[in-house]
Amino acid sequence: MSDRPRLLPLLGATRHGSRDAMTCLYRCGNACDHPVPNTSDNPYLGDIVDAEVSRRGVVRAGAVGALVLGFGGATAGALAGAGAASAAPADPVVPEAAGFGRPAGGVGSGALTFRPIPPNKLDTLVVPNGYDHSVVIRWGDPVVPGAPEFDVHAQTAAKQAKQFGYNNDFVGVLPLDKRGRRALLVVNHEYTNEDLMFPGFTSLDALTVEQVKVAMAAHGMSVVELERVDGTGQWRPVESGRRPYNRRVTALATKFELTGPAAGSAWLRTAADPKGRTVVGTLNNCAGGVTPWGTVLSGEENFNQYFVGGDAAPEELKPKLARYGINTTERYPSGNRKWDRADERFDLAKNPYEAHRFGWVVEIDPFDPESRPRKHTALGRFKHEGANVIVARSGHVVAYMGDDERFDYLYKFVSDKKFMAGDSWVARKHNLTLLESGTLYVAQLEGNSAAEIDGSGKLPADGAFNGRGRWIKLVSGNRSYVDGMTAADVLTFTRLAGDKVGATKMDRPEDVEPSLLTGKVYVALTNNTDRGKAGKAPADEANPRNLNKHGQILELVEDGNNNAAETFAWSLPIVCGDPTDPSTHFAGYDKAKVSPISCPDNVAFDATGNLWISTDGNALGSNDGLFATAVEGPERGHLKQFLTVPLGAETCGPFITGDNRSVFVAVQHPGEITGATVENPASTWPDGDYAKPGVVVTWRLDGGPIGS
Ligand code: FEO
Ligand code: CA
Ligand code: CA
Repeated sequence: MSDRPRLLPLLGATRHGSRDAMTCLYRCGNACDHPVPNTSDNPYLGDIVDAEVSRRGVVRAGAVGALVLGFGGATAGALAGAGAASAAPADPVVPEAAGFGRPAGGVGSGALTFRPIPPNKLDTLVVPNGYDHSVVIRWGDPVVPGAPEFDVHAQTAAKQAKQFGYNNDFVGVLPLDKRGRRALLVVNHEYTNEDLMFPGFTSLDALTVEQVKVAMAAHGMSVVELERVDGTGQWRPVESGRRPYNRRVTALATKFELTGPAAGSAWLRTAADPKGRTVVGTLNNCAGGVTPWGTVLSGEENFNQYFVGGDAAPEELKPKLARYGINTTERYPSGNRKWDRADERFDLAKNPYEAHRFGWVVEIDPFDPESRPRKHTALGRFKHEGANVIVARSGHVVAYMGDDERFDYLYKFVSDKKFMAGDSWVARKHNLTLLESGTLYVAQLEGNSAAEIDGSGKLPADGAFNGRGRWIKLVSGNRSYVDGMTAADVLTFTRLAGDKVGATKMDRPEDVEPSLLTGKVYVALTNNTDRGKAGKAPADEANPRNLNKHGQILELVEDGNNNAAETFAWSLPIVCGDPTDPSTHFAGYDKAKVSPISCPDNVAFDATGNLWISTDGNALGSNDGLFATAVEGPERGHLKQFLTVPLGAETCGPFITGDNRSVFVAVQHPGEITGATVENPASTWPDGDYAKPGVVVTWRLDGGPIGS
């Protein structure tokens, strides 16, 4: 290897919108090469809504109650009792539940004071004037105490299983003490890029089995204890001491417990697990959320690409596999990871039901490092982007979820049991069961200007892309509401249940997150370049542009401000793109003053309720970034760019601590540009040698809050 790698020229090998071909290969197994899995002919924005809504009554009675607010970040002033950093695993800590890190402010004035940064193509992380940033942790850094030093030329699966994994996506920061000095960082590792991980890489087939296992160990999650740096907004890993919470979860070895109505069902049983209750590993963990009881949820997304041999699966199973994007005609479809070389459970010819054990929402308790993470079947199985929880005013907890595929659906789950407030061990133990039983719904939306939607993105005469919707009940506990499907069928093949009930086909629902201050829910619909193509669903008011390259943000307001309601209103505050493009919309704000944005992916809120949006696949040609806007008041729609990530990367996380002093983002797949290698990288971020995914924290140099 040369002393100093040369920068690879940009090859321009983009496909599928703006994404580099290498990202298409590794991130979603060339999903765009394969047919859209949703071939159902269910209606979109259909007449069904009118009939059903009028039958049920549109608005539930009752005054707007106060929301029970959950975790909103690591509020310095409100950091609450998660126990001392030195607590032993045998004495698990109990984070305060109700009000834990509750946002300190009111609904934001929208006064985001940073000066927006310009779009750029720099191979560095760019933040506004007056801000600084640092790398908190990167691929290969030690996680478990005693982890061996990273050596890219001598990596093993055993080493990787103790080190920070690859391609960090979700970021959660949970307070560990009341003074705001310690916290737990919880991160997803979505996928690996073997071209950029192994020196001398030639092909997936040429990897050793040990290298395949390195990749498996680089998937999963990390829990890392952090300490605040000198009272600033900067954080860094604790590098000495016992660090009892530090933990790696991998696709290679971590055991998960299946919970809920489908656990133990025939669909989930395999030769290695005849009871259908224990799964080894988690796959393609994308986004997630922090619960009000101090756990982390993580979505298993493009799990299909890890399986081979779908052509030899039982014939009757093939339609069910195909609906999840699993190729049933070839042994090794394009983009496949060939993990069957290391573990035959990834071969559907031998283990046709193994694929059913992925595609779930995972819950991990970072405060109990000995605990077994769980996969909650009650939340359904699809390409889960993530899940975000709010406590409804009834006390039931509601999880909002997106299925990230072109023309797939938006879901929510409402728990059977109620949230128990307080920081007692009894309350926490109870709350840990909340996602094990409840009701799963899928969304159906209709527009109020349907006749005016022509696919161009032209705003209707009423001045808004908006309308109403309803949550269609799919299953409640063990009772199915879908004809011809049992509860286990519905939960295991949730996409097929959504098809049957006429759910609305959306433009790739990514992150779906409720504001804990207002209860309003925000959905990142990232793009859908197949919208309106021959044989595909045309534009509708919620997905108003054909060949949609830039995506949109949907705001969902539950009737009665009750997150457990079955009907809602919706609108599109932001239709993304270059503001000079007439098909864009920024809630009516002066477009001359907003930043261009493309492909919204993750959403988050700061302590005063401003909406933060990170992007993946900027189709306007510059690097991906992080943006913020007020969603209430006169500044609604005043979108400003806060940072950009280096070449080839997408911006993930984000997470703003509850004191508004630290903005965390994950820099995922830097330098992922076709032709790049370890020796010849397209990005040298963050260390000047070769590209490494990593988590970054940004803070204001004068110590003040982000915005005001
Ligand atoms: Fe992993 Fe939907 O992005
Ligand atoms: Ca309208
Ligand atoms: Ca994502």
